[in-house]
Amino acid sequence: MKVSRLLVIWLSVLTAVTVYADDRRAKVNYQLHCQGCHTGDGSGHPGRQIPTLTNYMGKFLTVEGGREFLIQVPGAAQSQLNDIELAELTNWMLKSFDPETAKKGFEPYSATEVGQLRKSMVLDFTGTREALVKKIEIANNY
Ligand code: HEC
Repeated sequence: MKVSRLLVIWLSVLTAVTVYADDRRAKVNYQLHCQGCHTGDGSGHPGRQIPTLTNYMGKFLTVEGGREFLIQVPGAAQSQLNDIELAELTNWMLKSFDPETAKKGFEPYSATEVGQLRKSMVLDFTGTREALVKKIEIANNY
């Protein structure tokens, strides 16, 4: 077997292991830092102002400003997680809670992007969210 072929196999194994490890760490971080409010399956408590992430979270990525918003919400931006952990956690949440949208493909967050985004806060959170939800409704013909 050629060396280059061995290298390709080795790299794929390495990638698979890394992705698995990141997902496992993301899940633990979700349980420790987010689940208390957002619940285990992401369904939240809509009646108590904790929005449902299940089958919805990914829709924010389909409208302008939504990608920034998912990182700039206080629970995410101001968490104790570092940029690498918050990026992998958000990517994991998108895949786990909104697999249908994630399957269509999305650009995963990088630590650098997350670091930039969390520097600026959303001041009028409710207004920003309402505007995004309106855009999502229009885009999806609800
Ligand atoms: C103390 C409760 C609480 C914790 C803990 C919490 N959140 Fe939230 N989260 C909220 C609330 C409430 C909202 C709705 C917007 C708001 O008022 O901040 C929200 C909204 C969000 C949203 C936007 C979804 C939407 O539809 O508006 C994301 C993404 C999010 N949180 C991620 C996280 C992540 C990631 C963590 C853990 C690192 C986390 N949250 C921890 C309460 C919490």
